[in-house]
Amino acid sequence: MQTKSDKMSNLPRHISIIMDGNGRWASDRGLPRSFGHREGMNRVVDIVEHASKIGVEYLSLYAFSTENWKRPAEEVNALMELLVIYIRNQLNRLHKNGVIINIMGDIDALPNTPKREIIKAVEKTENNKGMTLNLGINYGGRNEIINACKKLYMEIEDNDRSIESIEESDLEKYLYTSSQPDPDLLIRPGAEKRISNFMIYQLAYTEFYFTDILWPDFKAGNLDEAIEEYMRRKRRFGGI
Ligand code: FPP
Repeated sequence: MQTKSDKMSNLPRHISIIMDGNGRWASDRGLPRSFGHREGMNRVVDIVEHASKIGVEYLSLYAFSTENWKRPAEEVNALMELLVIYIRNQLNRLHKNGVIINIMGDIDALPNTPKREIIKAVEKTENNKGMTLNLGINYGGRNEIINACKKLYMEIEDNDRSIESIEESDLEKYLYTSSQPDPDLLIRPGAEKRISNFMIYQLAYTEFYFTDILWPDFKAGNLDEAIEEYMRRKRRFGGI
């Protein structure tokens, strides 16, 4: 595995992960689904640490989608609680490692405790210089684009700009990932082959890596395997 000390590395700068399979991991063991999410949280700890250590600059994790509210209240509550536990247990360590926490999604709709902890984490880490950890929480890609369009529309109205002058960069500055490079690699564990409304604008030229491994079984070595496969691919961005 190449690391940040390897100057020739074509390590992906930005990796996105759809963390899928927690429920099945638990059901396979006759456990409640929340046990799968808890084990999934442990993998978040491992993968964030590993990605930061090997020199990934941006890591985007899909933790809770705008559609996940449809799950039973008990499961939604368990996920909210895990977010709080993750931040309370990991914030000092993340901060020490220079990680910047950036939220993708509308956290205003969250219960008070997770909302408060998330805001604290963002504020504490905002001036760090290490890996940016984008956490998708109450996040939906279509929603992100609509919100960006609304903000761009206001800007155009306020500045009396012509519609013809609008470029991609005008919209991109209103995405949650403004000023970040697009993901180079999307990883989806859990055997499904779809993107589930995750970063649908930013994934335009991203390389996809699907694996049957369930997220609670996804170890640092599996991240390395995905990165190694990515490094063997030829990216053409529509060229030849
Ligand atoms: C999808 O698996 C996973 C989720 C909806 C939640 C992901 C959350 C975590 C990994 C833990 C908390 C996150 C952080 C950042 C602390 P699923 O439940 O849809 O699995 P299934 O397809 O097997 O049912």
